[in-house]
Amino acid sequence: MKASSATAFAHANIALAKYWGKADVEANLPAVPSLSMTLEALSTTTRVEFDAGLTEDSLTINGVVRSGEELRRAARLLDRVRLESQETRFARVESHNNFPTASGLASSASGFAALALAARQASGLGVDLGASSQTARAASASAARSVYGGYVVLPRAAERAERYLEAAAFPLTMLIAVVTQAQKPISSTRAMLVTAETSPYYSAWLEMAPHTYECIKAALGARDLDALGRAMEQSALAMHATMMASVPAILYFQEPTLALLRAVARLRESGIPAYYTMDAGPHVKVLTRPETAQRVASELGRVPGVEQVLSSALGSDARLVTS
Ligand code: PMV
Repeated sequence: MKASSATAFAHANIALAKYWGKADVEANLPAVPSLSMTLEALSTTTRVEFDAGLTEDSLTINGVVRSGEELRRAARLLDRVRLESQETRFARVESHNNFPTASGLASSASGFAALALAARQASGLGVDLGASSQTARAASASAARSVYGGYVVLPRAAERAERYLEAAAFPLTMLIAVVTQAQKPISSTRAMLVTAETSPYYSAWLEMAPHTYECIKAALGARDLDALGRAMEQSALAMHATMMASVPAILYFQEPTLALLRAVARLRESGIPAYYTMDAGPHVKVLTRPETAQRVASELGRVPGVEQVLSSALGSDARLVTS
């Protein structure tokens, strides 16, 4: 019998080589290749139930009813699954994040990956990971990468992400310094469009990002944390520099963001391997080895404006949850 409900679980991910910009806005294909690390400590669990009694899709996140853009994006993903599966019923979606749903904390990546798996299973399509990655990517390109564990690549203009390395191949720790938000940041979707239309550096970003990506891939392949970390910092700084030069300027940094970058630089000067990256929010993510994670976390926690420091090892593939 065709299943009409399913629950799935996916981890968040942080890009070491950043994606910023679309090769195709309508199809939501990325303009540059990206490479990420899946985070064990941050995850989303989502239940989808197609129900003939519903007159529209509904969405709750952490028990709170969502409307507006959040609901529209979930409904668009469900529409694609309905089209592919011939499911005609609307769905009830209940999603739970095990981490603070703060902007720039990659909740959309784990959220859309879990939603893609649960919706495909509930519609009877099944949970082929490649197909789920494609479903997730249409909603949020970074979500395509959350379908796989370990280190994951999403090539330029690709429909689906692919695993690059298993988690056990190079066990590293990602620390996330959560910064108090002074204002709600502009969404990454909107910010990418403004960058592409107005930043004089956008063409330079498109030219350099594939090279940085190749450096990061090679450094990971060689298990060279220093080369990896330096290229990762360059990827994040070049992405932010490109968007800062947009009109109007897109500035996700807040005061603690810069203080955290300085703290990471000081740690490195004292011989501790620690490297930073930042996404579409003020938080700073710091890559280090498991054995230095505690020392780095306590330094980051001392920076004024840091609310908490989360710590994560590499996570596994997204999967169905059977109750
Ligand atoms: O897929 P989106 O719209 O969440 O874009 C995410 C973009 C960055 O997080 C800034 C970089 C990345 O590759 O994850």
